[in-house]
Amino acid sequence: MRKFSRPKIALIGAGMIGSNLAYMAAKKGLGDIVLYDIIEGLPQGKALDIMEATPVDKINSIITGTNNYEDIKGSDLVIITAGIPRKPGMSRDDLLTTNSKIMQQVAENVKIYAPNSFVIVISNPLDAMVYLFYQISGFEKNRVMGMAGILDAARFRSFISLETKISVESISAFVLGGHGDSMVPLPRYSYVGGVPLPDFPGMTQAKIDSIVERTRKGGGEIVALLKTGSAFYAPAISAIAMAESIIKDQKRVYPAAVYCDGEYGYNDLFIGLPAVFGGNGVEKIIEIKLEDHEKAALDKSAEAVEHLKGDLRNLKFLS
Ligand code: NAD
Ligand code: LAC
Repeated sequence: MRKFSRPKIALIGAGMIGSNLAYMAAKKGLGDIVLYDIIEGLPQGKALDIMEATPVDKINSIITGTNNYEDIKGSDLVIITAGIPRKPGMSRDDLLTTNSKIMQQVAENVKIYAPNSFVIVISNPLDAMVYLFYQISGFEKNRVMGMAGILDAARFRSFISLETKISVESISAFVLGGHGDSMVPLPRYSYVGGVPLPDFPGMTQAKIDSIVERTRKGGGEIVALLKTGSAFYAPAISAIAMAESIIKDQKRVYPAAVYCDGEYGYNDLFIGLPAVFGGNGVEKIIEIKLEDHEKAALDKSAEAVEHLKGDLRNLKFLS
């Protein structure tokens, strides 16, 4: 009799995003979940709490918590949120030194205990952290990706919905580039009910500019409100969308930090681009036509990401 195995998902970091990832992944039935953290008791307590929700929420996943990397052994998918989040006044780049030290440790352990896994990095500064993981792990480029573009596009879609009073389900949007102030929301490739955003009735350039700016600053807006940390619901569900497309081989197209080997003229760089996510991870980077000003904005964002790589080298995290 054919035996079907349930995917094993390891979540490295049991904080605000990690614990929401655990519940969301379990609720979607993506597999059995192991929540890892360095804080004694934190992953175990959160995993037990979610397990105790499963009878009520009709969830069949097994969720466990651990402080021991041994327990992530053989994971099919790993999602990394280990690291500190921003506080008011901090940029994502301000997290570089602290989170790079953490990412070094995480990458070395994932390489040992989950050597064949697909890895979604969330920790900030995202474009640098996913690159650092890639370099340390030595994993193939299709198995390493960063979650940011889906989140930034979700913010863009939400703000378009608030402005147009149209359901978010009828709004699609693209945000490319690094996960920072240089990100590139693309109004020309964003649609409201199938109508390109710039052509939607009542939409003006001033309104588009305002929505684009609010999208760029979306993370900081929440940090300023929360004061103790950063966004976690939308980042978590954005990573779950990527995870689901991989685990269920759905071939969905999402913007995400993916490794460039010449695409868009970039090499040896992780940056937010539209890509196909399926059973083989990042299956294809889609090269869309960009107008000169759009490509110039993407190049500027790529420069910002390259600068972060330079910082990693200066701090001796990379040779
Ligand atoms: P959090 O502080 O709630 O959780 C982080 C967890 O990491 C903590 O539980 C902490 O104990 C754990 N941790 C610290 N060092 C560790 C180590 N060496 N090994 C394992 N775990 C370790 O933070 P959060 O709100 O969940 O955010 C997590 C990260 O995600 C932050 O860096 C944040 O900036 C980033 N983030 C990224 C995006 C994105 O779009 N990519 C969006 C929001 C937040
Ligand atoms: C965000 C930051 C924290 O919420 O990355 O986008």
